[in-house]
Amino acid sequence: MNSKDYFDRVAQDWDEMRENFFSDEVRVTALSTVQKGKIAADIGAGTGFISEGLIQAGLQVIAVDQSEAILKEMKRKFADIETIDYRVGQAQNLPIPDETVDYAFANMYLHHVESPPEAIAEMVRILKPSGKLVITDLDEHEFDFLRKEHHDRWMGFKRADIAEWFQGAGLTEIRIDSIGTCCEAQSSCGSEFASIGIFIASGKK
Ligand SMILES: C[S@@+](CC[C@H](N)C(=O)[O-])C[C@H]1O[C@@H](n2cnc3c(N)ncnc32)[C@H](O)[C@@H]1O
Repeated sequence: MNSKDYFDRVAQDWDEMRENFFSDEVRVTALSTVQKGKIAADIGAGTGFISEGLIQAGLQVIAVDQSEAILKEMKRKFADIETIDYRVGQAQNLPIPDETVDYAFANMYLHHVESPPEAIAEMVRILKPSGKLVITDLDEHEFDFLRKEHHDRWMGFKRADIAEWFQGAGLTEIRIDSIGTCCEAQSSCGSEFASIGIFIASGKK
C-alpha cells in the first residue's frame, strides 16, 4: 500500500486517530502569529486540523492533499465555510502558482513525503516575498512500528537538517523550537509506546 492509499483508507477515522496522537496545543502554537485577512496554504491538510484554526482566525485557506478521500471528509466537515479552496496535489508539484500565499503550514506532513528538502522548497515557491513557512513535525525517533502501522516514511527529523533545508530553500529568520507537547502512539500489539517530541520550524521568504 502506498501513502495515498493509506490516507484514503483512514480518511473517515483520521480525526479520532489524530486526537490520540497529539493535542490542539500544536495548532495553537503553530498559528500563534497569523494575521486576519491573509491567505494561507495548509499542505497535507488531512481533514483540516490546521485549516480549522486558520478559518477561525479569519484567513482564507487553500487546503492541499494527495488524498481525494481525506479532502472529501474535510469538505463534509466544513460544508458551510466558503473560504476554503480544496485542491488535490502532490508534494513535489503543489497546485498553487508561485508567490501567491502569505503563509504555508504543514503539520505532520513532512515525515510522509518522499523528499523533505524538495517538499520544503516547493512550499517556499508558493510563498509571497516576506511570506512565512511553518512546519510542525516529529523530532528524530526510533519507533519503527510507526513506519509499518502508520505509513510514516521518515523517523522524524534532526532539527539541524530542517534548518539546513530551510536555508537551502532561501528562508531567513529561521527558528526551530519545541512545541512543548509530544506525539503519542501505541503499537497495535500493545508492546511499544511512542512518545516523541514535536518541533515547530518557521522561516521567512
Ligand atoms: C499525518 S497526516 C496530517 C494531516 C493534517 N495536517 C493534520 O494535522 O491532521 C499527513 C497528510 O499529508 C498527506 N500527504 C502525505 N504525503 C503527501 C504528498 N506527497 N503530497 C501531498 N499530500 C501528502 C496525507 O494524505 C495526509 O492527509
